[in-house]
Amino acid sequence: MPPSSILLPLSLSLCFLLPALAEPLHFDLARRAPAGVHDLNYYAAAAEHLRGKYGLAKSVAIKGRAAADINMVNQVPQPFSVILDTGSSDLWVADSSCTTCTRATPVFNAASSSSLQLSQFGTNIKYGSGEVAGQIGQDVVSMGGFTVQNQTFLAVDTLTDGLLDGRVSGILGLAFSTIASTRSIPFWQTLAASGQLTTPEMGFWMTRVRGDPTAREEEYGGVFTLGGTNTSLYDGDIEFLDMPGRTPTFWLLNLKSITVQGNNVPVTQASALSAIDTGTTLIGGPTKDVQAIYAAIPGSQPVTSMRGFYSFPCTTKPALSLSFGGQSWPINPTDMNLGRLATGSSQCVGGIFDLSLGSNIVSGGGNPNWVVGATFLKNVYSVYRASPPQVGFARLSSAAGGSEGLTAP
Ligand SMILES: *[C@@H]1O[C@H](CO)[C@@H](O)[C@H](O)[C@H]1NC(C)=O
Ligand SMILES: *[C@@H]1O[C@H](CO)[C@@H](O)[C@H](O)[C@H]1NC(C)=O
Repeated sequence: MPPSSILLPLSLSLCFLLPALAEPLHFDLARRAPAGVHDLNYYAAAAEHLRGKYGLAKSVAIKGRAAADINMVNQVPQPFSVILDTGSSDLWVADSSCTTCTRATPVFNAASSSSLQLSQFGTNIKYGSGEVAGQIGQDVVSMGGFTVQNQTFLAVDTLTDGLLDGRVSGILGLAFSTIASTRSIPFWQTLAASGQLTTPEMGFWMTRVRGDPTAREEEYGGVFTLGGTNTSLYDGDIEFLDMPGRTPTFWLLNLKSITVQGNNVPVTQASALSAIDTGTTLIGGPTKDVQAIYAAIPGSQPVTSMRGFYSFPCTTKPALSLSFGGQSWPINPTDMNLGRLATGSSQCVGGIFDLSLGSNIVSGGGNPNWVVGATFLKNVYSVYRASPPQVGFARLSSAAGGSEGLTAP
């Protein structure tokens, strides 16, 4: 779930056009223009949205409407940068009819696509950082050498302020069709089903901006690989774990254990379902477990002005590791620190927040209880495998910055 907002980090170029090829393709992820440090209000607002998003994900998918009537026009390739989001399943781009888009946003021009089929139906999609609405259409969509002839997408005419910035035009959802608001097959799933991918896998390396005290985690760069992995970015084996559940929806794993400052913090197994989400900045979890994490960090306390957030002494380096059933993966302490509670405060705000507080997320309903975003994913090479449905993590190679606390094999 995105955004770039808290939730939408990665972007790359997507082109409405072109031919086919089968080797894995590596796409450099654009670093979002550093917009300065986000203030804490931004994280608080994004957390509120995220609570809504996961609680609503299923009903949104059911309410989506299918396409019908169509128009045709002239063909010109139109390139767009889109956010890559393993926490959603729709493709959308800002349309030339968009009234709430900023002037800098490159927009899709329906009049210059001869292959476009625009329906008279619309839908909306909710994300962690906001919401979009528009008209459902189909067109030829390519990314590098990969092409889908009839890709359903949403031509967006209305979006929440702040959902896009810079040159980014939309979101490419990389989860499964079952949760698509447009009720269509996601781009990557069509490629996998039609045998266009050498290996039915997608790999992510998300960089941390190093040595810049003002940098925040939305300033990603990195590499996205479609159809395989990039072996120069990780060392050792990829630990693949089976996804729980029968029908794939989000990319899910069960969280098995958490270590904080060297102590094991019990994970409530009834609410351990975790969405592995490149489109979310932070980590959100259920009340009891998030309380237990901060209880293991001396001097931590709830932040009254930010629902669900906690602070800890800025002099503390929180050492957390997550395990989903095998290897325990450490989180770099810098990723856990969102900055000072206020100017001059000795307390700093933590990157794990209470997601279930005030939300309608019900455990056991198939909706994830945890959302595991970039705060964790920057510390590993992550791989999303279509069949069998699995998520894998590997240690970052030294070329990719290495994984804190994990020694070479
Ligand atoms: C795309 O879908 C339309 C109807 O939805 C169909 O007429 C057309 O043949 C399809 N094109 C391809 C290339 O699959
Ligand atoms: C990894 O990605 C980089 C950057 O896109 C690319 O140049 C390189 O060839 C890839 N390496 C491997 C081993 O796939």
